[in-house]
Amino acid sequence: MNDALTQAATIGVIGDVHLFWDAEDVAFFNQSNYDMLLFVGDLAAYTQVRGLGVARSLGKLRIPAMCIPGNHDGLHALQLGAEIAPRAHRFRNVFCQGQDWRCTNLDRALGHVKLVAYSRHRVELSGIAFNLVVCRPHSIGGRRVACLRYLAKKYGVDSMESSSARLKALIDRCDDAPIVFLAHNGPSGLGDRADSIWGCDFRKQEEDWGDRDLEEAVRHAKGQGRAVLATVAGHMHRRTKSGNHRPGQIQKDGTLYINAAEVPRHRIKQGAMKRHHVELTLTRTTATAKDIWV
Ligand SMILES: [Fe+2]
Repeated sequence: MNDALTQAATIGVIGDVHLFWDAEDVAFFNQSNYDMLLFVGDLAAYTQVRGLGVARSLGKLRIPAMCIPGNHDGLHALQLGAEIAPRAHRFRNVFCQGQDWRCTNLDRALGHVKLVAYSRHRVELSGIAFNLVVCRPHSIGGRRVACLRYLAKKYGVDSMESSSARLKALIDRCDDAPIVFLAHNGPSGLGDRADSIWGCDFRKQEEDWGDRDLEEAVRHAKGQGRAVLATVAGHMHRRTKSGNHRPGQIQKDGTLYINAAEVPRHRIKQGAMKRHHVELTLTRTTATAKDIWV
């Protein structure tokens, strides 16, 4: 068979870590055959100190790896509380103070694992070329843009609309190779039930909790005739508050959407500790994914 038809890149996608990461994970991935690792963010869980410990451990990976910051990364507990709880919203801008410094510390702790946001990377793995477009960092989902003051200062993004414009500009810089999006939260437009792939399960009212800027970016890319192979994200844990399970992946209009947030990703199964990640395989024209427990 023609070589071009059999070539494939394999990428390990690690969903929201939330501190479930240790030396055995490092050893597993270092001896794996993955061409690259993508972390969808949320290394930490309310405390930055322990999140930095996870980041230092990730720094021991010997495979090319990138990580987009989640809403738990670079935010202290009070700041996260102000972003989440309506009664504390009035404090959320003031708590952005120091986020730049906290993110720099995280970046340093990660070593050669790149902490990425609002960026486009030309990637070539095992003969497969693609544009990796990294979306809005620290997304909390829903209609509001979290960490707005920080995003405005660091990226010039001060609204959902300007975030969408920023992503569209990144897409305009892509070459003819297909696109893969890396985000913390997935796009809106994929369901408004609590157990939809990015549906809201923590309010009485079920609703779509996806990111509108990302939905618009995917539409923009497709409107230009670009192939969007996959969108990789997490944030909305697969097991919902009511104990249902959202899908870990769906295929729509030629794009594979992956929600990798199997939390906790360390779990006892049949008496043994198992560790979760998603294996993403890209060819020139297709993306497929499967859940792996090792
Ligand atoms: Fe999150």
